[in-house]
Amino acid sequence: MTPTDPGLDAVLGSLVPWPDDGSRADGPVAVDATDRLLLDEARDRLATAGPGDVVVLGDRFGALTLGALALGAADVRVHTDAVDAERALLANAEGVDRARDRFSVHTALGPDVLAGARTVLLQLPKSLAELTEVAELVARHAAGDVVLLAGGRLKHMSRTMNEVLGASFADVRATLARGKSRALVAAGPRAERRDGPLTYPVTARLADRELLAAARIVDGGVDVVAHGAAFAGASLDHGTRFLLSTADRWPPADRVRDAVDLGSGTGLLAVVLARRYPDARVVATDRSAAAVASTRATAAAGGVADRVITTRDDAGGGLPGASADVVLLNPPFHDRAAVRTDAAHRMFATAGRVLRPGGELWCVFNTRLRYRPALERAVGPTEHVAQDPRFTVTRSVRG
Ligand SMILES: C[S@@+](CC[C@H](N)C(=O)[O-])C[C@H]1O[C@@H](n2cnc3c(N)ncnc32)[C@H](O)[C@@H]1O
Repeated sequence: MTPTDPGLDAVLGSLVPWPDDGSRADGPVAVDATDRLLLDEARDRLATAGPGDVVVLGDRFGALTLGALALGAADVRVHTDAVDAERALLANAEGVDRARDRFSVHTALGPDVLAGARTVLLQLPKSLAELTEVAELVARHAAGDVVLLAGGRLKHMSRTMNEVLGASFADVRATLARGKSRALVAAGPRAERRDGPLTYPVTARLADRELLAAARIVDGGVDVVAHGAAFAGASLDHGTRFLLSTADRWPPADRVRDAVDLGSGTGLLAVVLARRYPDARVVATDRSAAAVASTRATAAAGGVADRVITTRDDAGGGLPGASADVVLLNPPFHDRAAVRTDAAHRMFATAGRVLRPGGELWCVFNTRLRYRPALERAVGPTEHVAQDPRFTVTRSVRG
């Protein structure tokens, strides 16, 4: 039976699925069964954890971080890929006594957050690429006696996850399932991970016709750099390719001083914008730390780092109003844990706000999503420029 702990219960009971307040019936929950399972499994280690021992990765709304502190951890180092999850933790920490000065938030997944760690709690990512990068970095930087507890929902877990962890750790076991969740427990970082090469970031040279034409490259390719969590990895997404195939109808260079790649992923669109509009300033923004790091590296590899400014932001909320002449957008289909389109709609609103009058949003999306009315409302008159059975590309002009 799980021991109860009034301090932990009080902390977990105070959390909300920020920015929601938890009242939406179909909204996310602030504390899920995986959070509780991980905290229970780590309870004894947390109770005796000294300074620098505990790291939390992938916390959703702060349950793991604030729960670990409630269970006795001296302090916690935190990395979450999504900036909105980071903001949720900070918002929830405000309601927990003496919490804020006992955890530190680290944007980069690397030695700052991981060096010397002895207990690492991880909400399992869905992508094996992301898990590979996390496992390798934990094995490389954490203490030799580190225990990585990685939990997830059974429906999102596969045997391959054990294998991915097994490539970086000598001992991997699974806990019994509780409710719909299970944890994988990994220990014994493999020697070859301590000093051998890392799988991520990966680099590839892409020579897709649409990409080269849009970037005005006659001969050669575009180098893309991808961290594990970056969308599409080191390849060109089908939707992105379809958007690129319309490039000859994007605004001419003499009308573009400022361009935005909204939700930049690995930054391929940012590189295309920088090459196509040589006098323009390009802003590439994404909520994912892995995406921003990938975009920065892709821009550097493409020789346009000096003209591509990267920001990590939720739906480009920090971009100034009326500051762009063209925005490119391949919006996400998933909004954090749920399959929802909230993020896409917030990005449309951002495009409407940041475009100057006459500026254009070029957007590609799954044809069945029928975003045109929403684009009309958020930005302005919208036409279907290209359509195939899977994707639609629209052009919306800011009125
Ligand atoms: C479909 S991918 C497109 C990536 C890239 N532009 C491309 O075409 O390959 C959508 C991107 O939006 C990002 N994203 C999702 N939700 C976001 C949000 N709320 N704010 C900012 N970026 C977000 C994801 O991290 C992902 O990189």
